[in-house]
Amino acid sequence: SSGTHVPVLVIGTGYGGSVAALRLAQAGVDVHMIEMGMAWDTPGPDGKIFANTTQPDNRSYWLRTKTKQPLSNFLGFPIDKAVSRYTGILDAEEFGGITVYQGRGVGGGSLVNGGMAVTPKRENFGAILPSVNADEMYNIYYPRANAGLGVNTIDPAWFETAECYQYARVGRKQAQRSGFPFVFVPTVYDWDYMKQEAAGTVPRSALDGEILYGNNYGKKSLAKTYIAQIKATGKVTISPLHKVTSVAPAAGGGYTVVIDQIDTNGDTTATKSVTADKVFFAAGSVGTSKLLVTLKATGALPRLNDEIGKGWGDNGNVMCGRANHLWDQTGRVQASIPTGGIDNWANGGAFAEVAPLPTGIETYASFYLTITKNPNRAEFSWNAATSKVDLSWQTSWKQPSIDAAKTIFDKINKAEGTIYRTDLFGTYKIWGDHLTYHPLGGAVLNKATDNYGRLHGYSGLYVIDGSLIPGNTSVNPFVTITALAERNIEEIIAADL
Ligand code: FDA
Repeated sequence: SSGTHVPVLVIGTGYGGSVAALRLAQAGVDVHMIEMGMAWDTPGPDGKIFANTTQPDNRSYWLRTKTKQPLSNFLGFPIDKAVSRYTGILDAEEFGGITVYQGRGVGGGSLVNGGMAVTPKRENFGAILPSVNADEMYNIYYPRANAGLGVNTIDPAWFETAECYQYARVGRKQAQRSGFPFVFVPTVYDWDYMKQEAAGTVPRSALDGEILYGNNYGKKSLAKTYIAQIKATGKVTISPLHKVTSVAPAAGGGYTVVIDQIDTNGDTTATKSVTADKVFFAAGSVGTSKLLVTLKATGALPRLNDEIGKGWGDNGNVMCGRANHLWDQTGRVQASIPTGGIDNWANGGAFAEVAPLPTGIETYASFYLTITKNPNRAEFSWNAATSKVDLSWQTSWKQPSIDAAKTIFDKINKAEGTIYRTDLFGTYKIWGDHLTYHPLGGAVLNKATDNYGRLHGYSGLYVIDGSLIPGNTSVNPFVTITALAERNIEEIIAADL
């Protein structure tokens, strides 16, 4: 409530925020977490907490009146539909040149993501976080993050026979026939649960196409891992449907944090002001960058340095589909959790996940989300005319990603005698080049902050989320975000408390 004083306030409940809150609580500190999205702990009218991907409803999107599905078309026809405005789970946030998808709610991106939990190859780490000691990361913090997140790998024998991974086996066969290594991707899905789904003995979630709008059963989102541990400490308060709008030095020391309480229409119902000795920005790459850029430009935190807002990248995300021959069916039932990828990073700068198209019908398509070595970096800036934060990314900056993805799929198409699908992102449009699932950067480690996330210019302010990572992780990012947060919070607890 207004006027309260807290030792530590954490903005956001995704990976970075959850690691910070847990380790601080375990060190004996009382923590207050502020989350703009909903708690996602109560079933809707259909008895389920989360909506299905094939039937989006008001729960699916953050304050939209029409869905904004990443795959906007099927057989060329637009598939978006009207929904009622609500504080739903997936935010499709539109900037000038890119739509950035993000999770909203307690658990952040862990609520909506595909659960692929990938540690980058050691040889690539120097390019990802050049100022971080790789030995420490690979010996201590990556293992700690993997354990904390419950990362595990599919039973390879089951993979060979499971109907729901027919699409991945087709993807593997075609990759290997073109000479590309196919690698299993670790995940945070409960594989025993998926086996039971396949056997028909439990309610289905991965096998019912649940992804993007939440997963009702088998995925170990943060709610089942770090946040469950956070709750068990008894030292952390979580306030959902509360949005931080300002952080500024307080007269008597510490920081004044201004917070809007919102209802499920997104309207502000109360504005509160609390003081905190320390504040952790964990609102995600976009959320943290927008806050810091605004606070610097509007005079609340003028001493933040000129690196604020810079170094933002899209992790090189680009999507595409391929049309298969009629004898290469990918299957009517496709597990929504991808479990393998095509690794051409060293030669082509591309790592392609073999992704599902969980439509419930045979699509004769293979679908891929490719992570590429795209060198373009954008900047967030304050727009005084609109009182909003802009992002300088341009759609044409995806061309290096398309070129990298083509090093894989042109070759596969040639070997297989197949073609790209042109009906998934519009009419006659091959590349899903308008979006990212993996925003990274905006408050880069060792630039906007010191080498542990302490913001330059203000003691007691920290960044501890994906905005620390300068634009690319070579694989899916949440394990690296978690491991870096584990590293930084250990140093901060030892030195600053
Ligand atoms: P994260 O975004 O998780 O959390 C930030 C939280 O802060 C959010 O809950 C937000 O609502 C809240 N917030 C923002 N502003 C606020 C404010 N002003 N006040 C209060 N709260 C505020 N990664 C991966 O490794 N494997 C995968 O398979 C996938 N798949 C995938 C699919 C889809 C559809 C998406 C959208 C994303 C993925 N990702 C992924 C990406 C992954 O989910 C992402 O990188 C992490 O969630 C980022 O973690 P952070 O801790 O940085 O922020």
